[in-house]
Amino acid sequence: MRHKVTIVGSGNVGATTAHWIAAKELADIVLIDIVEGFPQGKGLDMLEAMPIERCNYNILGTNDYADTAKSDIVVITAGIPRKAGMTRDDLLHTNHKIMNEVVANVVQYSPNCILIVVSNPLDAMAQAAYKMSGFSRERVIGMAGVLDSARFRTFVAQELNVSVENVNAFVLGGHGETMVPLPRYCTVAGIPVLEFMSQATLDRIVQRTREGGAEIVKYLKTGSAHYAPAAAATEMVEAIIRDKRKILPCSAYLNGEYGIHGLFVGVPVKLGVKGIDQIIEIELTAEEKVALDKSAAAVKELVTVINV
Ligand code: LAC
Repeated sequence: MRHKVTIVGSGNVGATTAHWIAAKELADIVLIDIVEGFPQGKGLDMLEAMPIERCNYNILGTNDYADTAKSDIVVITAGIPRKAGMTRDDLLHTNHKIMNEVVANVVQYSPNCILIVVSNPLDAMAQAAYKMSGFSRERVIGMAGVLDSARFRTFVAQELNVSVENVNAFVLGGHGETMVPLPRYCTVAGIPVLEFMSQATLDRIVQRTREGGAEIVKYLKTGSAHYAPAAAATEMVEAIIRDKRKILPCSAYLNGEYGIHGLFVGVPVKLGVKGIDQIIEIELTAEEKVALDKSAAAVKELVTVINV
């Protein structure tokens, strides 16, 4: 069966997500944006790469939500990105307004889809999308933990000069400065990471992970990361389309899990064809729980401002 994935926003994150999804031959893709010509141009350009890649999927760029009808998954990347000196939270009001318009259109044309939210500030935007859509919580998922964990894994692998494939890591909490990397659950070929490096080195990696988004913004100056965020969103799309039941850290609406109520926060979830198959509750130390609560409080502050 062919699947259909719509990507809202044809900027760097949206277009790169389309690229990864096409390269992995996951689905037909609709790239939609309000800017006229932009999604059409990028979509056509990508489509023309398909014969070279011997890939039989269709890529359509459009400004018309009717073209997105009956999508299985909709990845929302729309919104203004961070610029140098901005935090993700600075984007709150502008991106909330965009999110409301996008979700209203998406729900009209794809009432049964699964939403993957990528726009920042991530957890607050996921919550806005969830409330606006009226979907069950299984069908609204925020992308953050996969990206933050990938950064953590990159830095650990670099430090040890080992394959990134050997490194497993989990970053929980909100996608912001309060995110909660869990070094205790970081392993290299199944072996706890502290067997390989000192606590001080690990602490430095944890801090670099927290600032991973800002590090890229600092280099790019007028934009933010897109290759790794797009790859992260694609891993989630793949887990859902292939019903992998893959456990990934994602932003999910918590109803009492981890003692958190009515809030999107990054936790391990099992992703399958229905979206969130299960929210995995792991045992946290007192210190980790304090960090997670602090992170949740930061998300709560934002959702209170926009009243979602
Ligand atoms: C980052 C932005 C996209 O973490 O949130 O790079």
